[in-house]
Order: sequence, then structure tokens, then C-alpha cells
Amino acid sequence: MKTFHSIFYLILLITKISADICTITKFEQVLNATKTCTDIVLQDLVVPGGVTLKLNLLKGTNLVFNGTTLFEFTNWFGPLVTINGTGLRVSGGEGSIIDGQGKLYWDGKGGSGTPKPQFFTIEAFDSVFSNFTIVNTPKDVVQVTNSDKVEFYNWFIDDSQGDKGVAPKGHEGHHTDGFDVWNSTNVIIENLVVFNQDDCLAIRCGANITVSNLWCHGSHGLSISVGFSPDDISVNTLKNVTIKDSYLVKGMNGIHIKTHNDGGPGLISDITYKNITFDCVERFGVQIQQNYPRGDVVGNVPIDNLNFIDVRGGVADTAVPVFILCAEGACDNWHWTSVQINGTKPNHCNYEPEGFQC
Ligand SMILES: *[C@@H]1O[C@H](CO)[C@@H](O)[C@H](O)[C@H]1NC(C)=O
Ligand SMILES: *[C@@H]1O[C@H](CO)[C@@H](O)[C@H](O)[C@H]1NC(C)=O
Ligand SMILES: *[C@@H]1O[C@H](CO)[C@@H](O)[C@H](O)[C@H]1NC(C)=O
Ligand SMILES: *[C@@H]1O[C@H](CO)[C@@H](O)[C@H](O)[C@H]1NC(C)=O
Ligand SMILES: *[C@@H]1O[C@H](CO)[C@@H](O)[C@H](O)[C@H]1NC(C)=O
Ligand SMILES: *[C@@H]1O[C@H](CO)[C@@H](O)[C@H](O)[C@H]1NC(C)=O
Ligand SMILES: *[C@@H]1O[C@H](CO)[C@@H](O)[C@H](O)[C@H]1NC(C)=O
Ligand SMILES: *[C@@H]1O[C@H](CO)[C@@H](O)[C@H](O)[C@H]1NC(C)=O
Ligand SMILES: *[C@@H]1O[C@H](CO)[C@@H](O)[C@H](O)[C@H]1NC(C)=O
Repeated sequence: MKTFHSIFYLILLITKISADICTITKFEQVLNATKTCTDIVLQDLVVPGGVTLKLNLLKGTNLVFNGTTLFEFTNWFGPLVTINGTGLRVSGGEGSIIDGQGKLYWDGKGGSGTPKPQFFTIEAFDSVFSNFTIVNTPKDVVQVTNSDKVEFYNWFIDDSQGDKGVAPKGHEGHHTDGFDVWNSTNVIIENLVVFNQDDCLAIRCGANITVSNLWCHGSHGLSISVGFSPDDISVNTLKNVTIKDSYLVKGMNGIHIKTHNDGGPGLISDITYKNITFDCVERFGVQIQQNYPRGDVVGNVPIDNLNFIDVRGGVADTAVPVFILCAEGACDNWHWTSVQINGTKPNHCNYEPEGFQC
């Protein structure tokens, strides 16, 4: 009798669990599911061109992108997906693929060519995003924005079909940034593989950001880019970032730190790059410049306490191994140990970090 009861309740429980999973196969069902369900599978979803897959999720939602999620083609600015909420667990199912059909958009001009949609905008708290495989993104891939306590694990981003020599001439991918971080705190990004044609990672403002185990191919490097706002110091400030255990091959830069000479006041402080290796980088091994995008060197965003530990690499003959261009008095307190970048061109530095001979 006891066993009978147990089995009965077990069956009831299983029925309940499976009934609670909302499996969505049509775009029209998404909105209702996000309003009523906290366990969602998007199964082989086709998202029409020109609309955003809006996932404003209930607190504590588990959502799985399963099978192939396909975004139909339309020239527009996107984003293709927004994910929004607290306590989320969002992941790609085993073997799943998210396909942006970039080849239909790529014209070698990125953001300055025909309109191309940005892919993911994520605004979340206490949330984990893992196991994504994304191919052929029209433009940049992930914007993490206004978020706190968010973690990203195991993302495979493959825009290699947009590489020069792979894509037809004039149809290369461009501005295909991997991860951009904006105004976010307590962020962990771990285990990314990125094949693309712009920054592998670009951190713009926020605090307490740890990035590890990136493998980047053909990118513009592991970037920090600060000073977008003409007057809001809160979004011109980046503090306490560690980027470590990463490898980059080919592409333009290894490490790129840039402050915008046309922005308002801000600050970059307490930044560590540790155990970074790169190979065959074509423009700069390490490029730190306080005159982005070009022109006058301005100290509006000082760089304080910049640590490099075990940063090494070989750059192509076309590349400057280490380039540092600081405004007067705007770089301070840099400590570098075991930094060795080999190349044939000379380094160029107007500020010399402690522990590094330029
Ligand atoms: C909305 O979703 C719930 C499940 O969470 C389902 O019971 C209901 O039928 C759906 N309504 C519509 C109109 O699809
Ligand atoms: C994911 O999709 C595969 C088929 O593509 C299916 O076998 C599997 O059960 C699905 N997983 C979930 C969680 O729905
Ligand atoms: C997230 O949701 C909030 C409140 O619903 C909204 O104001 C915000 O614009 C949303 N963000 C995105 C990226 O959709
Ligand atoms: C992510 O993938 C790993 C390895 O396949 C697996 O162990 C883990 O359970 C997956 N996580 C989620 C949330 O699906
Ligand atoms: C930055 O993000 C926080 C949420 O983490 C938000 O409260 C704040 O308004 C955002 N700041 C700006 C300038 O958008
Ligand atoms: C810097 O951020 C890390 C997490 O990324 C945190 O553990 C550490 O305490 C922070 N340090 C400071 C001084 O805030
Ligand atoms: C950074 O982390 C430290 C240590 O965990 C914490 O005290 C501080 O509040 C965090 N800063 C932000 C902006 O969340
Ligand atoms: C350094 O980073 C590489 C990945 O590029 C990793 O394989 C290696 O274990 C890291 N070394 C240490 C000491 O953490
Ligand atoms: C740089 O060159 C030195 C001297 O030839 C060599 O010992 C070292 O292994 C090289 N380092 C890298 C990262 O290529």
C-alpha cells in the first residue's frame, strides 16, 4: 500500500514537472510563455526578420534554446534578442545552434554598410547564461548592459565564415564584437571561443569584472574602451577588472586599452591582465592609447594601477609589439612583470610601466 502511494505520488510529480515545461515552437507563443511560465524550451524556433525575440522573463526562469534557433533576414538594427530578468538560468541545449544568417548581411562594412541587427542585449541580475553556440552573427554578438551578478560560461561564437579569404570579396564580416560589457557589476565571463572580426571582448564601464579562458581568433583583441559619454562620469568609469588565462591568434591586436579623447571625465583603475598569450597579431601586440579614435592625446580618462603579469606573444613583422601613448600625468602606478612580446618593429612608449623596459 505504501509503495503504491509512493509510486502514485511519483507519477503525479513527474506529470506536474513535465506539464510545467513550456515548449515553444512558434514565435507567436513566446510572449504568453514568458508571462506565464518559468520553465521554457524554445525548440527550433524561427524568429521573423525585423522583430526582436523579447524575453522579459519571470523571476527564476529557466530557459533553454534548443535545436536550431534561426533568425530570418531583414536589414534593420535589432537587437535580435533581449533577455531581461532576475535569477535566470538561460542556456543552449546540447547540440543546439543559434544562427544569425550573417552571410546574408555581411558587406565588409559592418556598422557603416547596410543596416545589420545587433544580436543579444542582456539586462539581468543574479543570472547565469551558459552553453551557447552562435554562428554567423550579422554584427556584434552580446551586449551585457545595466546588469549585476551575472555569469557567462561556455559560449562558442563562430563568425569564421566572414573572415577575409573565406568570405567572398566584399562580403566579409565586420564589427562582429564578441562580448561587450556596459555599466555592469560583478560579472564573470569564462570559457569563450570566438572567431570574429572585431573585439573579442570589449569592456566599457562597470566594476568587479572577471574574465578567463578566452580563445580568440582573428579579433581586435581583449579591449577596454572607456569615455563614451560627454558628461556622465558613472559610465566613463571602469574599476577592478581581471582578464586572465587567455589566448589570441591572428587579427589586429592582442590587448587594446583606449580612452576616448572626445569624451567627458572618467577613470580606469585596478585592471589586471594575467597569463595572456598571443600569436601572429598584425597591428599591435599591446596598444594603450589616450587618443582614441585618433588625434590629440587627452587625459580625461586617467589609467591608474594597470597590472600585466605573464603577458607574452609573438607579433607579425607588420606589428608594433608594445605601444603606449599617455597624456601628461594621466597614466600612473602601472606594474608589469614577465611581459615579453617579440616582434621586429621597435616598441613605442611615452610612459614606462614599472618592471618593463620599452
Ligand atoms: C499561455 O501559456 C499557458 C501555459 O503557461 C497555457 O496554459 C495557455 O494555454 C497559453 N495561452 C495561449 C493563448 O497560448
Ligand atoms: C532538444 O532537442 C533535441 C532534438 O533536437 C531533443 O532530442 C531534446 O529532447 C531536446 N531537449 C529538451 C530539453 O527539450
Ligand atoms: C527590461 O525590462 C525593463 C522593465 O520591464 C525595461 O524597462 C527594460 O527596457 C528592459 N530591457 C530590455 C533590454 O529589454
Ligand atoms: C553545459 O554543458 C556542460 C557540458 O556539456 C554540462 O555539464 C552542463 O550541465 C550544461 N549546463 C547547462 C545549464 O545546461
Ligand atoms: C547602470 O545600471 C544600474 C543597474 O545595475 C542602473 O540602476 C543604473 O541606472 C545604470 N546607469 C546608467 C547610467 O544607465
Ligand atoms: C574585485 O572584483 C572581484 C570579483 O570580480 C572581487 O572578488 C574583489 O573583491 C573586488 N575587489 C575590490 C577591491 O572591490
Ligand atoms: C565589488 O566587490 C566587492 C567585494 O565583493 C564589494 O564589496 C563591492 O561592493 C563590489 N562593487 C560593486 C560596485 O558591486
Ligand atoms: C594560462 O592560460 C592558458 C590558456 O591560454 C592555460 O591553458 C594555462 O593553464 C594558464 N596557466 C596558468 C598557470 O593558469
Ligand atoms: C621571444 O624571444 C625570446 C628570445 O628569442 C624567446 O626566448 C622567447 O621564447 C620568445 N617568446 C615568445 C612569447 O615568443
